[in-house]
Amino acid sequence: MKFFIDTANLKDIQSAYKIGVLSGVTTNPSLVAKEGVKFEDRIAEILQAVPEVESVSAEVTPDAETAEEMIAQANELIKINNHDPNITIKLPMTLAGLEACRYLSAKGVKTNVTLIFTVNQALLAARAGATYVSPFLGRLDDISEDGVLLVDKIAQLFRTHQLDAQIIAASVRHPDHVTRVAMAGAHIATVPFAVIEQIAKHPLTEQGLAKFAADWKNSVQ
Ligand code: E4P
Repeated sequence: MKFFIDTANLKDIQSAYKIGVLSGVTTNPSLVAKEGVKFEDRIAEILQAVPEVESVSAEVTPDAETAEEMIAQANELIKINNHDPNITIKLPMTLAGLEACRYLSAKGVKTNVTLIFTVNQALLAARAGATYVSPFLGRLDDISEDGVLLVDKIAQLFRTHQLDAQIIAASVRHPDHVTRVAMAGAHIATVPFAVIEQIAKHPLTEQGLAKFAADWKNSVQ
């Protein structure tokens, strides 16, 4: 399973990129709004900051409701950074989003269908040609449903029917989500940088380092 980072914060993106774990970036309108920057400018900055990743998702804005409006926005977004091939157009899981997905995928543009909460939605998105589908597990857990089980079922279905779309486990809240979606067969988990930090840490690693440091200090050098 690959890691994408789920943020529009450049510092966090660079920190994850530096340690070599990053295969992509996902953003959404809420994450960009949090940064207080112009959307297209930040997408350009991200594309430049992480040239070796496979995908940087830029979501069409919530005021684009029809497929035509979404395609018009996508046509502007794909020009960013000299038609950067990593740009991925993130589209909502609506009929209009699927229509835009089918059109853009046929043109060779990468697409990520977002806000997926059922297996059937994932199946529709994959059939519409989505490069990526994004089930939101944390938000399902928040309403007492089982988000990891959804990822598991989508992965089974895609294997059974040999569907090419990659599953991005999204709305990941903690390290246990990461382990469980990896075991369930997600191709990618998109995670906040805080989750990467949590995964890297373990109290026994810290204790071990403290002991090495103390022993080293007391040794005759
Ligand atoms: C994924 O692409 C979304 O940006 C994201 O994972 C949403 O997560 P949230 O439920 O923490 O907002």
